[in-house]
Amino acid sequence: MDSPVTTERLREIIARSRAHDRRPPFLRNLIGAKRTVNKYYNAIYEIARALKPKMVLELGVFRGVSAAHWALGNPEGEVWGVDCMPQSLLPKVKQIANFNFVLNETVRAAEAIAHHGPWDVVFFDSVHVYDQVTAEVEAYTPQMADYGIQVFDDIFKREGMRRFWSELPGDKDAYPHLSQCGFGVRVSWPEQALPQGMDHDTYERVRSPYTRIDDGT
Ligand SMILES: C[S@@+](CC[C@H](N)C(=O)[O-])C[C@H]1O[C@@H](n2cnc3c(N)ncnc32)[C@H](O)[C@@H]1O
Repeated sequence: MDSPVTTERLREIIARSRAHDRRPPFLRNLIGAKRTVNKYYNAIYEIARALKPKMVLELGVFRGVSAAHWALGNPEGEVWGVDCMPQSLLPKVKQIANFNFVLNETVRAAEAIAHHGPWDVVFFDSVHVYDQVTAEVEAYTPQMADYGIQVFDDIFKREGMRRFWSELPGDKDAYPHLSQCGFGVRVSWPEQALPQGMDHDTYERVRSPYTRIDDGT
């Protein structure tokens, strides 16, 4: 993304996703109306609509339901999905024009797909264990765009994921209502954009009134 994404902004977008469901019937019915009702799918759709990420990377695609939400939420962006199990992917997701499937192990894929980045969004949804998600974060954080977000499913699933989430540094927020085992988002900013000792939300609160003055609004 070209401009900063704050945890406050994400909270607003996600709150909006609780209030209404604007998804097209194609998404609502991907795997049967009831199962696609998962609240985090609508949140993904609203995040993509609001932030318009140019490049999204999904680690762990399975049937492609979340990938389809990233893709249709922002048809101008590109979605790349990595999975080692191609047979599960729904044929109708394969046909989505802005979705690309990469058959590989998620960490091993990092070098091969780096040239498609930098990534505005990385969605970590492969196997939810400490070592795997830690290795994925290490592999893909250097590939993040300046103002990107990292999205995690199942952050409270078992001890390993709880430990991973508690150790993850930076500006992050958990949205427990979105998924049975927790859902989390971390925002990434370029280090040089922040004055020393100031967190992103505080910086944004200080900065935004002056930005409006600069804009003449
Ligand atoms: C939870 S499912 C993904 C669900 C999907 N993101 C959604 O919400 O619609 C996890 C997927 O990750 C894949 N996976 C797990 N570990 C992997 C690894 N190390 N490399 C590649 N794919 C992996 C599995 O094959 C499976 O399809």
